[in-house]
Amino acid sequence: MAQWEYEQLGRARLLPLQLALLYRAAGYEQYRMSRFEEYSLYRENQGFLAAPQVLTFTDLDGRLLALKPDVTLSIAKHADPAPGGCCRYYYDESVYRPSRESHTFQEIGQMGLECIGEVDEAETAAAVQLALDSLALAADGGAALLVLGHMGFAAGLLRQAGLDEERKTQAMRCIHDKNAGALAALCGAEAAVCGMNTLCGPWQEVLPKARALAQDEGALQALEELETLCRRLVPKGCGLELDLSLANDSAYYNGLVFRGQISGLARPVLQGGRYDPLASRFSPSARAVGFAIYRNELERLDAHPCGLLSVALPKGRLGDKVFRLLQKAGWSAAQGPDSRRLVVEDAAAGVRYFLVKPSDVAIYVEHGAADVGIVGKDVLDEGGADVFELLDTGLGRCRMCVAGPAGFADDTGRTLRVATKYPAIAKRHYAAQGRQIDIIKLNGSIELAPLVGLADVIVDIVETGATLRENGLVVREEILPISARLIANRSSYSFKRAAIDGLLQKLEEVTRNDQNV
Ligand code: PRP
Repeated sequence: MAQWEYEQLGRARLLPLQLALLYRAAGYEQYRMSRFEEYSLYRENQGFLAAPQVLTFTDLDGRLLALKPDVTLSIAKHADPAPGGCCRYYYDESVYRPSRESHTFQEIGQMGLECIGEVDEAETAAAVQLALDSLALAADGGAALLVLGHMGFAAGLLRQAGLDEERKTQAMRCIHDKNAGALAALCGAEAAVCGMNTLCGPWQEVLPKARALAQDEGALQALEELETLCRRLVPKGCGLELDLSLANDSAYYNGLVFRGQISGLARPVLQGGRYDPLASRFSPSARAVGFAIYRNELERLDAHPCGLLSVALPKGRLGDKVFRLLQKAGWSAAQGPDSRRLVVEDAAAGVRYFLVKPSDVAIYVEHGAADVGIVGKDVLDEGGADVFELLDTGLGRCRMCVAGPAGFADDTGRTLRVATKYPAIAKRHYAAQGRQIDIIKLNGSIELAPLVGLADVIVDIVETGATLRENGLVVREEILPISARLIANRSSYSFKRAAIDGLLQKLEEVTRNDQNV
């Protein structure tokens, strides 16, 4: 066995022990639990789960049980903090959750801690300090970063922008994706919330910029909390940053949120925050803070993460346009789009390019094989990749439409048959209308389907409209505008931000000056 294999094995076994010692020394005791929990716990608290699907079975006594999809709910249910006190638990458990990519349930090893009860600023800071120390241990000498945000800041700026509830939800999604273009379209380019993307980095730099944008009382309060917390923390072997766009729209976290990243790992290895609404469901007036470390993610830790900026580019029609755009931005892709080479390194420029199928770009970026990529909005929305959407390049503009034969009259008494390459987009579109449909998934020549009686209508891309015209079809509805977007891996954006922002700025300049690249 090679030395590095010994080391890797040793590290995997050692980490849980090191973490357990760390948590015990801080006054946390181990919470052990069964793999199963009454299913009713999850049915009644579905809004707090990462996914609604839960593996269930009927026990020998007829009770409906579930394989735990979550640890925090079980601990919050059983914790019984004394008045004025806190329950402090750490755990090392497995949870069972559906995996979007493999379409099956996965066992996920989690270690973490929960502090429930009279959680004040000092208690919160102590828990976040443990998150910092845990990350430093997990990174084992590699670069690690704890990123802090606050749900109250984004919520405050959205109140300030005067958005209604529906647009607030959409805007929250844009903030989560760092989609500045869509945020400006929703809130108006002048709205303070549009400055959100610039609010990440060292807290000493971010807080003054954030205060200059905030007028809302709740937003200012969130910044106060963050400053008090940052002043108390001592980062050792792990960086500490703020990212005020770190927010989500789930019912789970209500204040401070944080995420731990290790260079070379595509996904966060640690997530946590304040979750008072969940805690108070079981212990009225209790507050709570906690975090989980995803041990499965750590298995992928590579001792030598790539230092170059990896860029995934689409091959084919869009690829030609993207190649010209990059050239104009001074990022020569080092070879023409006709080359058959799949990886091209430009070590002097610190860049490595991959040429991949357009439909695969977002997959490379989401998994961190590429740090950034350029991808059509159609592919992005269809696959639902969890990435930052940094820029609308304007390239390859077209529309996602419903089209059908010129004389087609929809009979709402019948299930509509829809042929498409984009089943997820089509399903979402018709679900919003409450229309029942059958999806017929095709891989090309979609326009043929209504002509030969395979489908009533199609959901497809329309660029010039020539294919529809030549086949006697007309656009019935427009679903969304499409163009190529610059996307980034969430973790890469932390560790390679200077390079990614450099590319973003260049592309912004070129696309602003020349809409016809
Ligand atoms: C796309 C799309 C339409 C056509 C629209 O097809 O699926 O068929 O382009 O362009 P137009 O409005 O300019 O006519 P693509 O060329 O990718 O072929 P495929 O769908 O058959 O794979």
